[in-house]
Amino acid sequence: MLKVINVVGARPNFMKVAPIVEAMRRRATEFAPLVVHTGQHHDAQMSEAFFRDLELPEPDVHLGVGSGTHAQQTAAALERFEPVVISEQPDWVLVVGDVNSTLACALCCAKLGVRVAHVEAGLRSRDRTMPEEINRLLTDQISDLLLTPSPDADENLLAENIPRERIRFVGNVMIDSLYAQMERAGRSRVREELGLTRGTDYAVVTLHRPSNVDAREPLERVLSALESIGRRLPVVFPVHPRTRRKLEEFKLPERVAALAPRVRLIEPLGYLDFLRLFSGARLVLTDSGGIQEETTALSIPCLTLRDNTERPITITHGTNRLVGTDAASITAAAFDALDHPRASVPPLWDGQAADRILNALLEREMMNRNDEQK
Ligand code: UD1
Repeated sequence: MLKVINVVGARPNFMKVAPIVEAMRRRATEFAPLVVHTGQHHDAQMSEAFFRDLELPEPDVHLGVGSGTHAQQTAAALERFEPVVISEQPDWVLVVGDVNSTLACALCCAKLGVRVAHVEAGLRSRDRTMPEEINRLLTDQISDLLLTPSPDADENLLAENIPRERIRFVGNVMIDSLYAQMERAGRSRVREELGLTRGTDYAVVTLHRPSNVDAREPLERVLSALESIGRRLPVVFPVHPRTRRKLEEFKLPERVAALAPRVRLIEPLGYLDFLRLFSGARLVLTDSGGIQEETTALSIPCLTLRDNTERPITITHGTNRLVGTDAASITAAAFDALDHPRASVPPLWDGQAADRILNALLEREMMNRNDEQK
């Protein structure tokens, strides 16, 4: 029986950990899972709603890290996780994605000599100004098992001299959540509440990357593009707290109000409501990593408002296009994507990744025990 601490910290972690914990509970003779929430995301809309929607068990331990600078968040998670690992003595700690909590908890274990598995390993944007890129690079260097969502990730890791026996291509576990929750999401009334009755074409936008929202100019360029796109179809924009604050700081709420009713800003949505909303969209515009993948899995055209992506497979095998933040380029790409949609789904994005992750953990554990006996 393997005792595994599963770490969650921020919104994009919850949908990756939920199917893994569910599979560990189902395979209770092989796994004893614990859930530790660092509390990096802490409010009802960014965190609690996701536990409910994804049927994630309440965390066994909550570290209460909260908001702060990168150093503060990373340091608080590192410091508060250590006594938990020491008292629980897990066989493995499983971290997911690329948020500050991912790196902090992996680093804590590397120093304690506790084995770490990283889910969603090997993704690279090659843009070291992104905090997530630093988190990805460092987490992969110190993890014992690297579980990758796509073959390009394996290649990235090999190119960084990570031994092949530590790498397992398991597919995309976030897509497990997507498929598992489609039926329940069908009961959400979010489209009706927004007046998007059956047959209405609409677009959905999300935006929160510091490079897009922390300065006024890119934010204004995106709003201009949304104005043009809104003339062709209604646009719904659930606004991340960071983005909401920046809109206010740059005194842009009047500009946003002028876009209504064609472009509507709403509060962030829970998992099921967001799934219901974007799964009916004709087009999604985003700077999120996960949404590039979710749209690809559901064959919904996606425009990524960045100059790079750590998920190139969504472009080569999916619906994604990189468009940057120039207003005219975004608008032209939006019209082209609406007129010429395309679709295909990458290998092993099949809803079965969680079980492959569990099998990889067992296999790696056997290898380690054999090595120790030698
Ligand atoms: C973090 C992750 C990013 C992920 C994103 C998804 C890192 C480096 N970044 O960025 O990879 O895509 O989450 O949301 O880990 N806030 C709230 N309520 C919350 C959480 C945050 O109001 O529950 C506010 C905070 O006060 C903060 C702002 O939102 O000022 C941003 O939160 P933060 O955790 O710093 O980073 P994100 O930009 O959300």
